[in-house]
Amino acid sequence: MNSDPVIEVRGLCKRVTDATGELTILDGIDLTVRAGSSVAIVGASGSGKSTLLGLLAGLDSASAGSVRLLGRELTGMAEDERAALRNGSVGFVFQSFQLMPHLTALENVALPLELQGGMSTREAFARSRALLERVGLGQRTGHYPKLLSGGEQQRVALARAFVSRPSVLFADEPTGSLDAATGHAVIDLMFEMNRATGATLVLVTHDVDLARRCDATVTIEAGRRVAHGDVRDSGKVEEAGR
Ligand SMILES: Nc1ncnc2c1ncn2[C@@H]1O[C@H](COP(=O)(O)OP(=O)(O)OP(=O)(O)O)[C@@H](O)[C@H]1O
Ligand SMILES: [Mg+2]
Repeated sequence: MNSDPVIEVRGLCKRVTDATGELTILDGIDLTVRAGSSVAIVGASGSGKSTLLGLLAGLDSASAGSVRLLGRELTGMAEDERAALRNGSVGFVFQSFQLMPHLTALENVALPLELQGGMSTREAFARSRALLERVGLGQRTGHYPKLLSGGEQQRVALARAFVSRPSVLFADEPTGSLDAATGHAVIDLMFEMNRATGATLVLVTHDVDLARRCDATVTIEAGRRVAHGDVRDSGKVEEAGR
């Protein structure tokens, strides 16, 4: 299958300046992700994976280079424009979950639908409840995040990311704090969404099983993309996906 790219990245750099000087977090990343494919971003802790994911999803802005998401150039786009592009098209599961503490599990999952508008609260809650059941939390819909375990919070975050049926799902270590059985259930759910709705999956993971199930793997080492094996990517455009 050779479908259109949903993500196109060229020469992407991220630099930050702090008291100790300038730090280069990402240094010249090239990447193409095709619609409906699944890509695993792997690499050591601190290599820049979460930073890359945030830039691909338009949550952060680049220091240099370009990111096209769903055919739109993110570079130079104002935050409210990026938010509008993300809304309804992009789901994101953060490494730190980022659930709203004052909302129940069900309300957290339904929140993107409420923000989007166009759906009754009853319908939004029914869809959210069905997703919570899918991730094994049908008995926890009224719990506030602080009453949920880490793995349960992670599953709520996953349900929230899927609720608006995004065309691209970005997930940062979606199985990171789950036991093997729950992790498999979550992986199955992601790939089912990938098959059923054609959702593109871009996942940061240390989970070898999860990476293996993806169509392509992108390895990051100290902010640079490396080809498989040990040879540095020489700036050549590698294509992720089928
Ligand atoms: N805003 C920032 N200011 C300064 N340094 C930062 C900032 N954001 C990230 N870094 C640094 O950039 C590097 C890459 O961070 P990032 O979170 O992308 O790593 P990661 O590959 O996701 O690691 P992990 O597997 O541990 O989650 C780290 O060394 C981190 O300390
Ligand atoms: Mg990270």
